[in-house]
Amino acid sequence: MHSKIFDEVIDRRGTASAKWDTLPQTKEGEPAYIALSTADMDFAVPEVISSALQKVVDRRIYGYTTEEAEPRFRDSLRWWMKERFDLEVEAEEIVVGDGSIGMMNCIVEGFSNVGDGIILQRPVYGTFTKAFQNQLHRNIVSARLIREDAFTYSMDFEALEKACADPCNKIFVLCSPHNPVGRIWREDELLKMLEICRRHRVLIISDEIHCDLLRPGQKHTPLLALARPDDLVIQVGSISKSFNCAGIKCASAIIFNERLREQVKAVLPSTLISPFALEAQIAAYSDAGRDWLDALNAYIDENIKQVRALFAAEMPEVQVTDPEGTYLLWFDFNPTGLSDAEIHHLVHEVARVRLTDGLMHDPDGGEGFQRMTTSSPRSVVLEACERIIKAFKEAR
Ligand SMILES: Cc1ncc(COP(=O)(O)O)c(C=O)c1O
Repeated sequence: MHSKIFDEVIDRRGTASAKWDTLPQTKEGEPAYIALSTADMDFAVPEVISSALQKVVDRRIYGYTTEEAEPRFRDSLRWWMKERFDLEVEAEEIVVGDGSIGMMNCIVEGFSNVGDGIILQRPVYGTFTKAFQNQLHRNIVSARLIREDAFTYSMDFEALEKACADPCNKIFVLCSPHNPVGRIWREDELLKMLEICRRHRVLIISDEIHCDLLRPGQKHTPLLALARPDDLVIQVGSISKSFNCAGIKCASAIIFNERLREQVKAVLPSTLISPFALEAQIAAYSDAGRDWLDALNAYIDENIKQVRALFAAEMPEVQVTDPEGTYLLWFDFNPTGLSDAEIHHLVHEVARVRLTDGLMHDPDGGEGFQRMTTSSPRSVVLEACERIIKAFKEAR
């Protein structure tokens, strides 16, 4: 499959897109905003998914649907985990939900109390804070990642040990691969982290929603490949990032520990799923889905290379991560000497590019950082970068 298919610019305005239809209105003659904020893709899904969904539409009835009546649903995920990650999963080890965050919310509510600590590794996906702290009133405890010299990040095991040793902190939400810093955790890092959580009996929710989005030569290790049968590990995944199906609401948890699995099932509201989610996943986890994903990863890799090259040439003081996985770039604009508000203004209002503010993912230190989603046609991504660079140059 040729990755040129991803060059197609599809106008998402007027589709109630959370990314594109929440932008400010522009007046005649003003340039339109470019949205590289919310982590979804501006690419058409593979044909195998759209034709499967078309068949559901053609049925004309969209009633209550249970994947329990359709073994191909779990089998597709089992096949994918074996094919991509060499992980054997039994059908009964899969628990189905309608969105990763929805599932994680239920788990956090069911396995902790108001005021209990949820351990995160900031900077990390801002919705964790929004969901667990602002909505569920848990206390976020951050075992901050360590920023290394080459603008990469590593785990702070001492901080993690300290957080896990506190009995108020019941759950650790691991982001693997990591949004926004793009790390793919190595086996030795995962094993060390696992050992700490095991010793303190801290429940791990391993959010692996970005596991398919890998730069060339990178290998993602599912946490369950390293866990022991009695470890408290819930591995969450979805087709939503990999196949641009976030709006379809489909997610699963894989849980090897049988007792834990029964407890998780008891806190989830329903086993029914959308008929669109059912067919989308079966279609995605297929040979055709795999070929599309490989082409997608090659395209994103080139987007990332070109963005990094552009900033290195035009604004070398700005630091940009070289992610191992995800389609996200994490920018440190602090070397420009400007304040967080000035940086926000130049990117969002002068350049008219919507990224996500660093403070959203890192309330304890995200000033001056921005996250860019690079999963858009190259022409769009590069135009956004050129506008940002111009805005900063003209402000000097
Ligand atoms: C790490 C991570 N987890 C979960 C989600 C949301 O997943 P879902 O749409 O399945 O709720 C996102 C979306 O950006 C994410 O980056």
